[in-house]
Amino acid sequence: MTNDRRTFIKQSATVATAMSVFPTLMNAGCVGANEKIVVALIGCNNQGWTNLVSFMKQPNVECAALCDVDQNVLNKRAAELEKMTGKKPALYGDFRKVLEQKDIDAVIVGTPDHWHCIPMIYAAEAGKDVYCEKPLGYTIEECNLMVKATKRYKTVVQVGQWQRSDPHWLEAVNYIQAGNLGRVRSVRAWSYVGWKKSIPLIADGSAPTGVDYNMWLGPRPERAFNQNRFHATWRWYWDYAGGVMTDWGVHLLDYALFGMNQYVPKSISSNGGKYAFPTDAMETPDTMMAMYDFGDFGILWDHTIGIYGAQFKRRGHGVAFIGEYGTLIVDRAGWEVMAENKSTSAKAGFVDVPIKQGTNKGLDLHVANFIDCMKTRNKPNCDIEIGAHIARFAQMGNIAFRLGRKIVWDGEKQEFLNDPEANALTKAEYRAPWSLPKV
Ligand SMILES: NC(=O)c1ccc[n+]([C@@H]2O[C@H](COP(=O)([O-])OP(=O)(O)OC[C@H]3O[C@@H](n4cnc5c(N)ncnc54)[C@H](O)[C@@H]3O)[C@@H](O)[C@H]2O)c1
Repeated sequence: MTNDRRTFIKQSATVATAMSVFPTLMNAGCVGANEKIVVALIGCNNQGWTNLVSFMKQPNVECAALCDVDQNVLNKRAAELEKMTGKKPALYGDFRKVLEQKDIDAVIVGTPDHWHCIPMIYAAEAGKDVYCEKPLGYTIEECNLMVKATKRYKTVVQVGQWQRSDPHWLEAVNYIQAGNLGRVRSVRAWSYVGWKKSIPLIADGSAPTGVDYNMWLGPRPERAFNQNRFHATWRWYWDYAGGVMTDWGVHLLDYALFGMNQYVPKSISSNGGKYAFPTDAMETPDTMMAMYDFGDFGILWDHTIGIYGAQFKRRGHGVAFIGEYGTLIVDRAGWEVMAENKSTSAKAGFVDVPIKQGTNKGLDLHVANFIDCMKTRNKPNCDIEIGAHIARFAQMGNIAFRLGRKIVWDGEKQEFLNDPEANALTKAEYRAPWSLPKV
């Protein structure tokens, strides 16, 4: 969006607020209170599309363009969008073309993790606001650069951790921060991906017709096409992502930190491996435990594939804050507290808090918050700093796992302490013609 158009939308929003306070102003011929927002989607297969459907539920939002390197996905989504809105979007295979379209105010980045940084920064440079999927960046270096670009171009960026806009998660944080649980020494965040099966090894082959595979790989190393490493299952390969840790970890660890209101661990250690499916095609660990030590409390990340687990009342994912008086558990469905029973720290009169259900509208609220912030230029609920911090935090767990030893993060210098080996893993090499954008 040009600065003029940003100012215009912001002024329209201000006028809209004024009109709701002083309805007589509505007769004064002011500019449209409901200025239209035009978006485009880059990466349309799964979550990108889910996000767009949510954008289409918001008032005065239109989608002018779709972009995907897979023509099959592009055509399918274009037909669905036309059916939903009655309008034909422009279709592109190269996201740089989307950014040339002047009427587009914001882009949704729904590409795999290795393809967030470059489109996000180019979009910011082109004056667009960005709804960017999580984990924000593929490396710590990318996350830092994306923060820098957001500041330089004054971009409104909402990261796709939609729990940040879901009221019951915030209620749970307020309950913890009010001290109701007493002192919390142990926090557990977990994702047990029970539905997931082993991925059998398959031979390399040709990319399906209509797929620009070179563009799909983008900055990542050249290699023959393999279906396992393509749509959806790319997340189990180090070249494109960080497995369950960066997939689910960013959602849940974000709330572990938010609840404790502490963000910089003293050290990180991590263990695990391919314990469920030792010989299958996945590279990232199917079982992993990462311990973040904060000096006077610890956060344990725990994931497995192929088991839902019976812990904490069979919740397949969640965050548990284990306090002196009770344990608060929060997941996408709601939150509850179970009182300590008979322990030396139990508090007389402290009773269970029965489950408080969530709204199930987290994504819609997150998208609405982004649209609102595009108009006010305020920080969205999951702004770039939050998204960058938690992506870095999850990557620290993976770096400790890959090195097989404890690592120490220097929060001041934003690097691992005296550890060139760990610091080397905060960056990636870019395959020409792609390179890390200059900001
Ligand atoms: N917030 C959430 O709850 C949530 C849930 C699922 C996934 N995600 C995130 O969403 C992102 C996408 O995940 P997914 O499951 O939808 O993956 P997917 O593989 O199903 O879809 C990605 C799409 O991006 C396209 N693509 C790849 N490179 C492209 C490029 N350079 N330009 C345009 N299109 C390109 C692919 O062809 C594919 O259609 C990931 O970062 C993932 O972590 C977030």
